[in-house]
Amino acid sequence: MNNKQKAAQAAMDYIKNVSIIGVGTGSTVNYFIEYLADVKSQLDGAVSSSEASTERLKKIGIPVLDLNNVGDLDVYVDGADESNAHLHLIKGGGGALTREKIIAGASKTFVCIADSSKKVDVLGKFPLPIEVIPMARSFVARELVKHGGKPIWREGFITDNGNQILDVHNLEILDPVVMEMALNKIPGIVTVGLFAVRPADILLLGSDQGIDIIK
Ligand code: A5P
Repeated sequence: MNNKQKAAQAAMDYIKNVSIIGVGTGSTVNYFIEYLADVKSQLDGAVSSSEASTERLKKIGIPVLDLNNVGDLDVYVDGADESNAHLHLIKGGGGALTREKIIAGASKTFVCIADSSKKVDVLGKFPLPIEVIPMARSFVARELVKHGGKPIWREGFITDNGNQILDVHNLEILDPVVMEMALNKIPGIVTVGLFAVRPADILLLGSDQGIDIIK
């Protein structure tokens, strides 16, 4: 079992008695979806953060529900590209950050699953994904330069919401909450891939030694 799989398996402890679960996106979550197949009789359905996860959930027979019809969720399980000790995250490597942030916001408990390489002291080595309205891309990029970043357009990639992604390099994010709030003010940005205002509640890190649980 690899370290992503270990984290995914550990998340199963947090969904006991949960009937509607929030499901994220990415290779670690893909393992989690495989585990969900074993408990699908317990589930009324899932709210999915991407077309990719929706397809996988449907394939194993788990109904995919509209967030508008289910109210707040008890548990959301998703991966991350980086996490610091405060469970502030960088997400969006797979481009699903907007729906991920919505579901995280609508969930009582956000369980983040990752392999131990994702844990860092300071966020920013992983380029920060930012979803932008297409017509605003160049303007937003110039604004991001003023914040000290080097934005690179993820050319050819269109999000599930029909928008584009800028990956912002060279950031050393010492205060993720302040940075997230500042970037949120730039017109044209749909979602900043910093999850600090609403961080994860539990981080399950799979490593060669087993599972680290950080709360
Ligand atoms: C998707 O947009 C991301 O936020 C993923 O959660 C993140 O990239 C983690 O992906 P892996 O589990 O593939 O590392």
